[in-house]
Amino acid sequence: MTARDASVYRCQQCGYASPKPGTCPDCLRAGAGYIQLVEERAAPARGAWRAPAAEGRPRPLRDITMEPHDRVRTGIGELDRVLGGGVVRGSLVLVGGDPGIGKSTLLLQAARALAQVTPPVLYVSAEESAAQVKMRADRLGIAADGLLLWTETDLAAVQVQLDDVKPRALVVDSIQTVFLPELESAPGSVAQVRECGARLMMLAKGLGIATFLVGHVTKEGALAGPRVLEHLVDTVLYLEGESHHAYRVLRAVKNRFGSTNEIGVFQMGEGGLAEVTNPSEFFLAERPGDAPGSVIVSSLEGTRPLLLELQALVARASFGTPRRTVLGADYNRVCLLLAVLEKRVGMPLASQDVFVNVAGGGRVTEPAADLGIVLAAASSYLDRPVPGDVVVLGEVGLTGEVRAVTGLDIRLKEAAALGFRRCVVPKSGVGAGAKFPLEVRGVATVNGALEALLG
Ligand code: TYD
Ligand code: MG
Repeated sequence: MTARDASVYRCQQCGYASPKPGTCPDCLRAGAGYIQLVEERAAPARGAWRAPAAEGRPRPLRDITMEPHDRVRTGIGELDRVLGGGVVRGSLVLVGGDPGIGKSTLLLQAARALAQVTPPVLYVSAEESAAQVKMRADRLGIAADGLLLWTETDLAAVQVQLDDVKPRALVVDSIQTVFLPELESAPGSVAQVRECGARLMMLAKGLGIATFLVGHVTKEGALAGPRVLEHLVDTVLYLEGESHHAYRVLRAVKNRFGSTNEIGVFQMGEGGLAEVTNPSEFFLAERPGDAPGSVIVSSLEGTRPLLLELQALVARASFGTPRRTVLGADYNRVCLLLAVLEKRVGMPLASQDVFVNVAGGGRVTEPAADLGIVLAAASSYLDRPVPGDVVVLGEVGLTGEVRAVTGLDIRLKEAAALGFRRCVVPKSGVGAGAKFPLEVRGVATVNGALEALLG
């Protein structure tokens, strides 16, 4: 047997390769259990296929000009923002998300928008029949002229069509269902996904086609198939949300052409995904007035402040170890904050069940929400409401001190714009409030904040 046709055994989760069959040691170490390696024939020699030649030779950096039309706005503002101001010609964008979350819907809408600006756009559906896509398009009222649909799973055939159709943008739905016939592995396997991704990358770069790939996500929340795909593409976006909530967040986790902190907010409805231009309003829509355990915090997503309602319910534990249930926030962080409340304020939470939730299915990831979590729990424990017109900001340290937060200005601006009248902020940030029609109260410790709001 020559080296060329030797098999490798590959982990379908992480891409680990071994010359012998068995289970994946990397995944075992990472706590994912025993994952069987899958046999894979060695990839064909790269020489068999050549990328379209890139122009010229190395040039001085200062001589390289960016043409203004290199970035195209799709017209879907929330998507454009997440992409960094529009989609870049020749870039490869991977859109991941749970099944049924709305990836195909989003990309069909994006394809329509792009078809109006830069036709033609080719939508390759490897998952659904033409009739299924047509049905969705009808629901969305899509009948753009420059939008071509093709149901094909063979990427080699797609490549032939690209020369013919010369699309300006391409959607491949999904990367796990297309395949290259020269590889022996099944569609969706690491080898296929990696090679298909690499091939599409070369096509996108070589022909200057803005390419979107749909990628499925495993139960654990990672993109199925190899992580190499994430390394390969220019941009990785995740479409997230709870399937029983209407709102969807599009988040950039990697972007070679923009910031990774931006989010786009959408609402899934009858006519597909609609942009939510004021997400704070959306998240606060059903807020109860003056209920114990409810606190408004501000979470900064990229350059965008989001006001969210944090809720806590503290109730006597009926038996055994008290429960801590956290939705929409970091579990360990909440446990830490409860310990601060217990030790520094003297609230006996060890005998209490604590439930923390972000209303509307939102998520807080920032330490700036710490003080809000502490106050929500304290408010519920004491059964005393935090006034409804207050926004709470501040990171909490282990000694119970309240620390500064970033972007205080824009957070306060958003709070004022939405009609809040009072803010509790870290002591160092009191000055920032002067510009806004807000009563800003600075606190130095958790005890100080409790005194200010819960008396
Ligand atoms: P889809 O885009 O097919 O999800 P994915 O490609 O991520 O698997 O979206 C499927 C869900 O979206 C489906 O449950 C129905 C819902 N939906 C709407 O609520 N309104 C609509 O206009 C459309 C097209 C879909
Ligand atoms: Mg789909």
